[in-house]
Amino acid sequence: MTLEHATNQHDNRVTLVGLGPMGLALAEALLKQGHSLTVWNRTPGKADELVAKGAGRAQTVSEAVAASPITIVCLNDYETMYRVVDPATAELEGRVLVNLSSGTPTEAHAALAWSAEHGIDYLDGAIMVPPPLVGEPDAVFLYSGEQSVFDRHRTTLASLGDPRYLGADTGLAVLYNTALLEMMYATINGWLHATALLDSANVSAQKFAELAFGWFMPAVVDYASLAEQAPDLDAANYPGALGTLEMNLNALEHITRTSEEQGVHSGQPRLMKEIAEHAIAEGYGGQNYFAIYELFKQAKPRS
Ligand SMILES: NC(=O)c1ccc[n+]([C@@H]2O[C@H](COP(=O)([O-])OP(=O)(O)OC[C@H]3O[C@@H](n4cnc5c(N)ncnc54)[C@H](OP(=O)(O)O)[C@@H]3O)[C@@H](O)[C@H]2O)c1
Repeated sequence: MTLEHATNQHDNRVTLVGLGPMGLALAEALLKQGHSLTVWNRTPGKADELVAKGAGRAQTVSEAVAASPITIVCLNDYETMYRVVDPATAELEGRVLVNLSSGTPTEAHAALAWSAEHGIDYLDGAIMVPPPLVGEPDAVFLYSGEQSVFDRHRTTLASLGDPRYLGADTGLAVLYNTALLEMMYATINGWLHATALLDSANVSAQKFAELAFGWFMPAVVDYASLAEQAPDLDAANYPGALGTLEMNLNALEHITRTSEEQGVHSGQPRLMKEIAEHAIAEGYGGQNYFAIYELFKQAKPRS
């Protein structure tokens, strides 16, 4: 989708609280899209360049919040958000608060309850890109909370990137964010550990990457074919005709033992092996590897 420009058809006033590396990128994007921007930051000097470009610098959070129908908060965490915004609850009443600070679903739910107590329309959000990509058309921002609030401010939110509304459950944005980051870290760790295995035989990372990314990942660990497995995950259907979890345990044992023999860290493959052993002990040995999903679901905290 393309970025939607601020027009006279909607109120283009926005307040931004928090000017760390991410807040500054948000501010630049908002100014670029023609918003009337008011900012506040604990360290006021960080707003100097923005003020030179036309932003208003509020002296207090209350003054900042009062300047716009919508306040976007981008601070290090939820605790800081309360510390910063609490003195401005009277001004926030009847206005919209969009929190883009990182946190957990429990924290997002608590923030919704806190906002409701003060008559504030609350949207929770998560930023999926680093600061240099903010404002690009494919910079995905995740949002959850009341849909009418999202719909009302969609044009403003689209100035930051591609706003994706995930649902009324306020915790969904940070939950998706955490899940996607977990995929990122697990993938990167897999590559780094595999590269360490090859390094133990003096094969360079660059040489290994040729086969790993030039052939193995696209041909064997093909993401499109992984996505095709998703309906089977939803249906708990793990036919083992082409390979069983027992067979995969064999591979995981070899990765663990090879790591030990080659003198590289074996914690990561050992954990994967233990998870597979646990699933087999639970009766999934004859099903395919994706059956460990059943184990992952069991381990989720129950509310
Ligand atoms: N940077 C990224 O690549 C990235 C990517 C996705 C999401 N995020 C999320 O975006 C949020 C902001 O990140 P960031 O990169 O801008 O840096 P950050 O270090 O997480 O947050 C910096 C902001 O928090 C403020 N702050 C910290 N402690 C405070 C306190 N006790 N009282 C008042 N203000 C306080 C800072 O104020 P001062 O300027 O006065 O120190 C600054 O405005 C985080 O939740 C982060 O997880 C960041």
